[in-house]
Amino acid sequence: VYTIPRVVCQRDGNCPLVVVGAGSLGQAFAGLLAHSGQPVLLLATPRTAQHLFEQRGVRLSGAVALHVPVALDPAPRGSITLATDARTIPAAAGVIFTTKGHQLAAASQAVQSAWRPTPEAWVAGVQNGLAKDDVLAEVFGPHRVVGGVTILGAQRGPHSVYIGSLGQTFFGEFDQTPSQRVRSAVAALEASGIPTEVAPSIHSVLWSKACNAAGVFGVSVLTRLSAQRMNGSPHLVRAYLALVRETAAIAHHLGVALGDYPGFPIQTYLDQPDEATVDYLTGAVRAHPLPPGQPETYPSMTQDLLAGRGLEVEDVFADLVRRGERAGMPVPRLRLVRDLLRGLDELQPSTARAR
Ligand SMILES: NC(=O)c1ccc[n+]([C@@H]2O[C@H](COP(=O)([O-])OP(=O)(O)OC[C@H]3O[C@@H](n4cnc5c(N)ncnc54)[C@H](OP(=O)(O)O)[C@@H]3O)[C@@H](O)[C@H]2O)c1
Repeated sequence: VYTIPRVVCQRDGNCPLVVVGAGSLGQAFAGLLAHSGQPVLLLATPRTAQHLFEQRGVRLSGAVALHVPVALDPAPRGSITLATDARTIPAAAGVIFTTKGHQLAAASQAVQSAWRPTPEAWVAGVQNGLAKDDVLAEVFGPHRVVGGVTILGAQRGPHSVYIGSLGQTFFGEFDQTPSQRVRSAVAALEASGIPTEVAPSIHSVLWSKACNAAGVFGVSVLTRLSAQRMNGSPHLVRAYLALVRETAAIAHHLGVALGDYPGFPIQTYLDQPDEATVDYLTGAVRAHPLPPGQPETYPSMTQDLLAGRGLEVEDVFADLVRRGERAGMPVPRLRLVRDLLRGLDELQPSTARAR
């Protein structure tokens, strides 16, 4: 099964996007891209490649309901080309890494050692946290790295990936210059039905999302509560905002302008009194209760905790603490959360197995 498929660029120069990591986000991105008729290569671990071949494709449920076949090269239009060997990556590809943050260094080194990219080839990561772009820049060189952020919400089940929301995805150059590679990536994802935009300042999106992630993960993981229960409690919304404000202070110190983005209007939360945000978030939960039978949704790090998987504590919290301390800021809340999560992470079955 694991011969090396040959995926080549088409004559018009339209190279397939490559998705590295066939988990929740990877299957969602690859499935939607292929379903829209675009070429896509999904690089999976052997165990997940085997699973996807056995179930004859990627199954997406929730916001979309799709069954997208997988095939070795040449995958027919509408199918995902599935591979386990990075030597299959086309020289002029755009490679989107969708591994967990703590898997990114190994995955990117495996790609780097096997891939002979052309000058226009690029890489991006959609992991939570700010560390991922440093990892990619170190492995591939800063000039190859496009900034990426997504809030598409996806969760892996035994037979399908449940998409809670297609969210919003952003790509942008770190030096803020308009570029063809960013426009092409945005056009490809948009054409696949994933709402995607060019970010005029990807730093602003990354840091605004980092503020939100610090608050959401800090509160939800430590309380083991769903997004609905967290946002429904005034006490927990205040705790969320305390972490948002401490993270935002680092961004301000570094001169990054935060903003309001779909799903995380961080600048508004910073500008208004905390009690206005408490009223807004708790009111939204009261006004839109989950329909009967619809499960509560858990932020991705809480899903990892409950499933016994490793936590992205180094990539999200330890990295923020390091950035804060480098800037001469004490960041006591972020440090407390980092230490509590490190303690929890040590007890996670998959972390213990990896040691
Ligand atoms: N899920 C979401 O809704 C969401 C939203 C926004 C951001 N994020 C962020 O996006 C990242 C990915 O999240 P996820 O939920 O998609 O994680 P996931 O379901 O755990 O998927 C990660 C995938 O990467 C694969 N992988 C690991 N090392 C690899 C390697 N060397 N080569 C190829 N594949 C490799 C894993 O293989 P196995 O299949 O063998 O485990 C797995 O399929 C995380 O940083 C997360 O915080 C997630």
